[in-house]
Amino acid sequence: MIPIGNSRTHTEADRIASAMSTPDAAALRIETARLILRPLSMADIDDVWEYASDPLVTRFTRFDHHTRKDVTRQWLASALEGATGDNFLFGLEHRELRHVIGGCAIRACNKSDSHAEMGWALARAHWHQGYGTEAVRGVIGFGFEQLRLNRLEARCIPAHTASRRLMEKCGMRFEGVLRQAEFFKNAFQDLALYSILKQEWAASGDLSSRP
Ligand SMILES: CC(C)(COP(=O)(O)OP(=O)(O)OC[C@H]1O[C@@H](n2cnc3c(N)ncnc32)[C@H](O)[C@@H]1OP(=O)(O)O)[C@@H](O)C(=O)NCCC(=O)NCCS
Repeated sequence: MIPIGNSRTHTEADRIASAMSTPDAAALRIETARLILRPLSMADIDDVWEYASDPLVTRFTRFDHHTRKDVTRQWLASALEGATGDNFLFGLEHRELRHVIGGCAIRACNKSDSHAEMGWALARAHWHQGYGTEAVRGVIGFGFEQLRLNRLEARCIPAHTASRRLMEKCGMRFEGVLRQAEFFKNAFQDLALYSILKQEWAASGDLSSRP
């Protein structure tokens, strides 16, 4: 007998339809203890320039440091244009200082497989005070709770101790090194791959109070 319809396809379609959701504008504001994560705008250009023009900030990043504010303006404009339902770019606004001290992105959201990639950068004056961990935990929560993703991953140059430690503190697991995975800083770079699954995030409870 020839089966009518295909229940597997139907189930798969349902899963994808209910898997990744598009957040409303209110969800694009994540509050953590010391930060407000909210969409960047052109008005943040001076704050973005502050960290994007610092060669120490960009030492391990795919992008080179900006040498002119015009480069930041163009970068910000194209990032904002690309910040759609598949790409989210949050500015990390310091609650007391009331300006942006860094950025954190979720990009390349893959709806059918429910995963996405994260990236981050913080102005040097604010390193080593837990802000990076605080922001990334907030964005991971957004990815699982608002976007209803199943897996979040991030990559960094293996020698980048700060990012590796940050990812561990956020409950991300090291999966291995992707050999010569990307070309930047004039060389093919090995990249350490970390990920966290929704089930691990759910089981970890509230990480915000952990050291
Ligand atoms: C990566 C980055 C966001 C970390 O932010 P941060 O706010 O300084 O990180 P945290 O204070 O939350 O610290 C996270 C952990 O990393 C450790 N750490 C931070 N900077 C470090 C460094 N330079 N060397 C070694 N460990 C470091 C911290 O000690 C902490 O671990 P601990 O609690 O066990 O001590 C920040 O260094 C940065 O913006 N770097 C430049 C941009 C960049 O490289 N982005 C990532 C590209 S993959």
